[in-house]
Amino acid sequence: MNKPIPFLDLSQIPPDLKNALKEKFSQMLEKGIFSGGEEISQFESNLRDFLKVPFAIACSNGTDALELALRTLGIGPGDEVIVPALTWVSTAEAVFIMGARPIFADTDHNGLIDLGKLDALFTQKTKAIIPVHLYGKMVDMEKLLEWSRPKIILIIEDAAQAFGAFQNGISAGTWGDVGCFSFYPTKNLGALGEAGALVTKDESIQIRLKQMINHGQAARDKHLSIGRNARIDSLQAGFMNVKMDYFQAWQKKRKLLSSIYLENLIDVGDLSLPLDILRPNHNAHLFVIKTGKRDKLKTYLKSKGIGTAIHYPTILPKMLPYQDGKEYPIAEKLSMQVLSLPLNPWMNDEDVLSISYEIKRFFEKA
Ligand SMILES: Cc1ncc(COP(=O)(O)O)c(C=O)c1O
Repeated sequence: MNKPIPFLDLSQIPPDLKNALKEKFSQMLEKGIFSGGEEISQFESNLRDFLKVPFAIACSNGTDALELALRTLGIGPGDEVIVPALTWVSTAEAVFIMGARPIFADTDHNGLIDLGKLDALFTQKTKAIIPVHLYGKMVDMEKLLEWSRPKIILIIEDAAQAFGAFQNGISAGTWGDVGCFSFYPTKNLGALGEAGALVTKDESIQIRLKQMINHGQAARDKHLSIGRNARIDSLQAGFMNVKMDYFQAWQKKRKLLSSIYLENLIDVGDLSLPLDILRPNHNAHLFVIKTGKRDKLKTYLKSKGIGTAIHYPTILPKMLPYQDGKEYPIAEKLSMQVLSLPLNPWMNDEDVLSISYEIKRFFEKA
């Protein structure tokens, strides 16, 4: 058997980065500031610069970011929020936590919310929509804004997977009223633990978001609303400041590896490939292929030491807490066909070639 290729092994981050992170930890340990402080201000400034957005607030994680966006925008009991049927559970979970009701929309063949289905789901109770830039590919935000403009409806972007994706030069997360990011360790820009961020173009929203992540506190001991402790950990902000310097190079590597997959897997079996992964509106977070032989292919690759993942095997409206008895045929079909291949900046060309070779062998034998 060839050298095993894990789906993602974060212990493989390169030694120069490990040393830079150790150095940052030592500096912070000596300083003794473990909540708040300049690492957080620096990280927020880095986010503003990179995303080209006026306001960025670092927070505890992407799920809290979604909940706090909903809370800040006043969404609660009696309200409906449109979310895609295929996404990570947080998108609908945050809606439930706020006492509102998620209304699921079927997806298109890329797993993105089907904009053509929104009219049928829109009611008097619809307060917001949460487009999810799944796998790092952006929902067509221009089209979504065109649809939402004549209505009174808020847009909260779930950009948890989409840091580094831009449509017409405008970053994911910065098109709607509030954008939510996750820096979960496996993301393109990942913390060494939990972290997230909220972004907005609206100053009054940012003031409220800032208070909301800190117990509704406007100034020391002055609490204006019921908030949360959803502050980012200072250490994580420090680590993120180090990792930001590597991000652009990693993105290039992800795109390069993706192009090798595309060249080698074209016209193989019944495979459907993410053909637009090289475009700027995709950050190459996941390289997701589709095949009717998904489970067998996954097992075959595992037998060859190649790790893969499924994003996601069950659509939300078929999960116990979210069941609504309705059908979402495209999202459901995707949940049976999608397979994420290894794609991370610590892989090399040969890894992609040997994964592609094994996939071709599987289809030759099938
Ligand atoms: C689409 C989506 N939304 C929300 C989240 C939640 O982010 P976090 O894990 O930081 O809470 C994730 C993270 O996996 C995600 O992929």
